[in-house]
Amino acid sequence: MTNKPDHTLDYHATSFSQGRMDFAWAEPAPEEIAAAYADWDAGKGLIGGDPRKRPNAHLLPDWGLGEPFFRVLAMDDPRGMPPAGNGAALRAELAGDRPLEIEIGFGRGDFLLDRAQRRPERLFIGYETKTKATRLFLQRIPRFQLDNVWASDDDVRFNLPRVIPDGRVDIFHILFPDPWWKPQHQVKRLFSPPFVDLLANKLRPGGLLYFKSDVAEYGEMVRYFVERHAAFAGHDPALAARIGDYAPTHREFWCSRRDLPFYAYYFERR
Ligand SMILES: C[S@@+](CC[C@H](N)C(=O)[O-])C[C@H]1O[C@@H](n2cnc3c(N)ncnc32)[C@H](O)[C@@H]1O
Repeated sequence: MTNKPDHTLDYHATSFSQGRMDFAWAEPAPEEIAAAYADWDAGKGLIGGDPRKRPNAHLLPDWGLGEPFFRVLAMDDPRGMPPAGNGAALRAELAGDRPLEIEIGFGRGDFLLDRAQRRPERLFIGYETKTKATRLFLQRIPRFQLDNVWASDDDVRFNLPRVIPDGRVDIFHILFPDPWWKPQHQVKRLFSPPFVDLLANKLRPGGLLYFKSDVAEYGEMVRYFVERHAAFAGHDPALAARIGDYAPTHREFWCSRRDLPFYAYYFERR
């Protein structure tokens, strides 16, 4: 981590708690894996429900029109950025050759904004289902003077397969995802076998999956799912060099201040 002074980042008090910290998981039986794929295909557990059922899903909200903001169902709304709208502008970026990094669940966005500032030659996309947090993030972009960042408040599991071309992503950052402790909420957990398939499809060969959590068992579960996938090599701490200096996410900052442990994993796409 670096101590580069950057007054555009401010880690004020938050409502984080340490949580229950009783994350239970076990190696899934074949029928549980089959059920995870069936849930995925049915769109079960999408945050905010199925976006296709929202009224006016084909339109961007007015506050997003001139912003680097997108929703998969509104990619063809022409009212956004000229000449053809936000979706067309993003597609043009994706058709270019700027290496792409994606952060899933950026929260306040401190890590993503700092990283985009350090690597202006790269393209960055952040997903954050909390619409208010996404709007606040968009409002912070001008202070960082960035033209290489886009954000969406879609559930990444719905948006990513439909918007991002296969093999396009250089790095996925998934930092301190929600553990979803209760058994009835576990279908909302990001990591599942179909989600790892999705990451494998979107990463380029040699691409990186960077994962962090303060829930030790979540890290163990992710390591199990990723390492049993043929597309990924085993966790290699030496790959941390590809992340380099960074600004911590809000959750990492919160953990560090309290001397709470957290765990980082680095997996390369074969
Ligand atoms: C525990 S918070 C951590 C935020 C930030 N990464 C940090 O470390 O401070 C996890 C975030 O992921 C977002 N999130 C959860 N599921 C998501 C999904 N399927 N797609 C996009 N964002 C998601 C949540 O809204 C939440 O803000």
